[in-house]
Amino acid sequence: MSATSSQPGQTQRREVFSSRWVFLLAAVGSAVGLGNIWRFPYVAYDNGGGAFLIPYLVALLTAGIPLLFLDYALGHRYRGSAPLVFRRIKSWAEPVGWIQVGVAFFITIYYAAIIGWAGLYAFKSFNKAWGDDPNAYFFGDFLQFDETATFSTDIVPQIALALAAVWIAAIIVLAIGVDKGIGRVSMFFMPVLVVLFIIVVIQALLLPGAATGLDALFTPNWSALANPTVWIAAYGQIFFSLSVGFGIMLTYSSYLRPRSNLTGTGLTTAFANSSFEVLAGIGVFAALGFMATQQSVAVDEVATSGIGLAFVAFPAIINEMTLGPIFGFFFFASLTLAGFTSLFSLLEVVVSAVKDKFNLPRKAVAIGIGTFMALLSLALFSTTSGLMALDVMDKFTNNIGIVAIALISVIVIDWILRRIDEFGSHLNAVSSFRVGTVWRICVVNVTTLVLGFTLIQELVTLVKEPYGGYTGVQIALYGWAVLAIIVISSLTLSILPWRGTARLDGPPGSDFGVDPYLRRTIREPRRFEPDTATAAQNGEQS
Ligand code: ALA
Repeated sequence: MSATSSQPGQTQRREVFSSRWVFLLAAVGSAVGLGNIWRFPYVAYDNGGGAFLIPYLVALLTAGIPLLFLDYALGHRYRGSAPLVFRRIKSWAEPVGWIQVGVAFFITIYYAAIIGWAGLYAFKSFNKAWGDDPNAYFFGDFLQFDETATFSTDIVPQIALALAAVWIAAIIVLAIGVDKGIGRVSMFFMPVLVVLFIIVVIQALLLPGAATGLDALFTPNWSALANPTVWIAAYGQIFFSLSVGFGIMLTYSSYLRPRSNLTGTGLTTAFANSSFEVLAGIGVFAALGFMATQQSVAVDEVATSGIGLAFVAFPAIINEMTLGPIFGFFFFASLTLAGFTSLFSLLEVVVSAVKDKFNLPRKAVAIGIGTFMALLSLALFSTTSGLMALDVMDKFTNNIGIVAIALISVIVIDWILRRIDEFGSHLNAVSSFRVGTVWRICVVNVTTLVLGFTLIQELVTLVKEPYGGYTGVQIALYGWAVLAIIVISSLTLSILPWRGTARLDGPPGSDFGVDPYLRRTIREPRRFEPDTATAAQNGEQS
C-alpha cells in the first residue's frame, strides 16, 4: 500500500517531504516569488531607498522570522492543513484556518495570471514584440485593457491560453504529490532560477549607468524612518515575501518528519529569501539606472508602479541593450520560475485543506479544486477587465486579508488560548536554535501592535478614498465582496462535518493530534531518543 492510501472511512496517512533539503528548496521556492523580483525593489525605493533596509531588517527579525517559526511549529506539531491545525488547537478556532485558506485561494487565482504574462513575455523578448512603446503595448495590444468595464466577457485569447497552461502545469504538479511533485520540481527550478537571475544581475551591473540606479536605491533618505508608512510597508513586504501568516509555511511544515530542525530551516529560508530580494533590488535598479542614463532623466522617471516595472520598464530597457533579447528572456524566465514555485505553495494550502476536511484522495482534490479555481481565474483575469480585477484583489487580499488573518491567528493562539509557550517548547524540542522570551514578545506583542496599527490605518485609507481611482462598484466587487466571501465561506465550511478524522481535538490543554514521538519528547525533553515505531510508520530510514 502506498504511503498515502487508505481504506474507505479511514483517515489518510500524511505525505512527507523525503528530506530536509527537499523541504528547504520547496520553502525557499515558496518565499522567493513575484514579491521578490518586482515588488521589493519598488517598495524599497518608494520608502526611503537605502534607509528602507533598516525597517526591513527590523521587520524581518521582529515579525518575519518569529512568525515563520510559529507557522512551522503549528503545522509540524499538529500535522495538518490550516483548518485541521486550528481545529485541533480548539474546535471553535477552525474558521481561522479557513480564512487563511480563503486568502490563499484568491491570491492564487490572480498570481497565476501574472505568471502567464511573464511566461508570454519571456518568448516575446526574442523579437521584442512590444516595439517602441512597451507601455502602449502592455495595456493595449497585450492586455486589451478596458478601464470602464467592471466584468468583461471579452476574452483575450493569448492571455487565456497562457493562463490555462499555467493552471494545467500547477494542477499536474499538485496531483503528483508533495514530495514527488512540489519537492522534485522545486529541486530543479530553484537552482535554475538562481543561475538565471545571477546572470541577469551581472548583465545589469555591466550596463552603462548601473551605478546611477544603485545610488538611487541605496542612497538613504533618513527622514523616511520617521514616517510610519515606511515601517508598515516593511512589515507588509516581509509578510508577503516570506509567505507567513496565510497557511503556506504551516501547510509545508505539516509534511516534515517528526525529527526536523524547524528553527534552523526557518533561518535558512529567511536568509535565502532576503538575499534574493536584495539581489533583485540590485539587478532591477542597475537596469533602471541604465535606462535613466540613456534617456538623460532621473531614475524615478523611468520606473512606474510594480506591475509596470516588470512589464513596461523592462521591455524598454531590453530595447536599448545589445543583448536585449537574451537578457529579456532570462529576466522573464526567472520571474516565471519564481512565480511557479510560489504558486504551488499557494494552491497547496487550498488542496491540503479540502483533502483533510473531506478525506479525499490528493489527485481528485488537485484536479477538482484546481479546475474550479482555473475556471474562475480564467473568467476574471483573461478578459479585458482582468487588470483592474487583479489590481483591486491584490490590494485587498494583501493589505487587509493577510494582515488581518495574521493578527487574528496571534490573538486566538495567545491572547485568548494562551498556547504560545506550547509552540515554543515544540520548536525547542526539535530544533537546533532555541527560542525564548524574545521570540514570544515578538510574536505576541510586536506583531499585535504593528499589525493592529497597520490594519486600522489601511482600512481608514481604503474607506476614505477609492483605491487606484477605480469605481465604487469595481472596488465593492473585487475588494470588499472578496473579503466577505472569505469570511462567510470560512464559517460555512467550519460547520460542515469532518470525514474520516475520528477525533479532532482533545480536552483543553491536551496534546491530541501531536505525533506520539513528539508528545513524549515535549514532555520529557531530555530523553530525545529515536522512536522506532513512529519512525517506521513515517517511512523513515534509520
Ligand atoms: N512569497 C511569495 C512571493 O514573494 C508569495 O511572491
